Amino acid sequence: QESAAYLRESLPQIPRVGIILGSGLGSIASEINDSISLPYASVPYMRTSTAPGHSGRFVCGTLNGVYVICMQGRLHAYEGYSASDVAYPIQVMKELGIEALILTNASGGINTSYAVGDIMVISDHINFTGLNPLVGPNDDEVGPRSHDMSHAYSPRLRELAKQAAYQQGIHLQEGVYIGCLGPSFETPAEIRAFRILGADAVGMSTVFEVIAATHCGLPVLAFSLITNMAAGIVADDTITMEEVADIGGRKAVQVCALVRDIVGEL
Ligand code: HPA
Repeated sequence: QESAAYLRESLPQIPRVGIILGSGLGSIASEINDSISLPYASVPYMRTSTAPGHSGRFVCGTLNGVYVICMQGRLHAYEGYSASDVAYPIQVMKELGIEALILTNASGGINTSYAVGDIMVISDHINFTGLNPLVGPNDDEVGPRSHDMSHAYSPRLRELAKQAAYQQGIHLQEGVYIGCLGPSFETPAEIRAFRILGADAVGMSTVFEVIAATHCGLPVLAFSLITNMAAGIVADDTITMEEVADIGGRKAVQVCALVRDIVGEL
């Protein structure tokens, strides 16, 4: 409540939509008009991001006529934060008044029909971290002790995403994201196992944020940009953070166009 109160006092309007920008996708924030930037470090109780390509600030302003709060850079458990630290900003944005959450991330493609540069709308996830942000005492005013995850990735928002992609001539993949702890990329054996488990793409974020969002009743839409094929899929390939950032930078315009269109429909 104190964190949300600080944001409320700092902003001219209550944001309607929360947006989280993943690795290499931070430039989307520059499309926000009349923006106010608030570093995470200035917000009471907020942790700050240390991962490469993650600025660590809220950028708030108007996107396609809608007042939004955008996280330019997210927190990851691999930075040493707890799952609940990672999910905390979602709970703060909900307390502030957002009505929907749009997430973006970078991932490695497991599905061999995917190609680098593809955008995947997430239909479901596998939380492979062994952690959960809701471990510990539950605040019943926020959400129930154990909440339903059957429709975590809003079918309605996914439909909007498909329509927006169709109108923009973007071929949108739809699939299951498996969230790992990181920070190391996976081994080829892990990727073979994840394919058997039903995963289409692998990354190191998103699952805690989505668990916290659904717990407090926020509808979620998540886009995953395939920045590389996952370990072992392309023989002799190696995976680097540089290529993740590079593909992110090159595809940010398309991801942004989708997010902008959808925000206008909410
Ligand atoms: N694995 C995990 N996280 C990622 C990857 C990957 O291959 N690419 C981008 N983020």
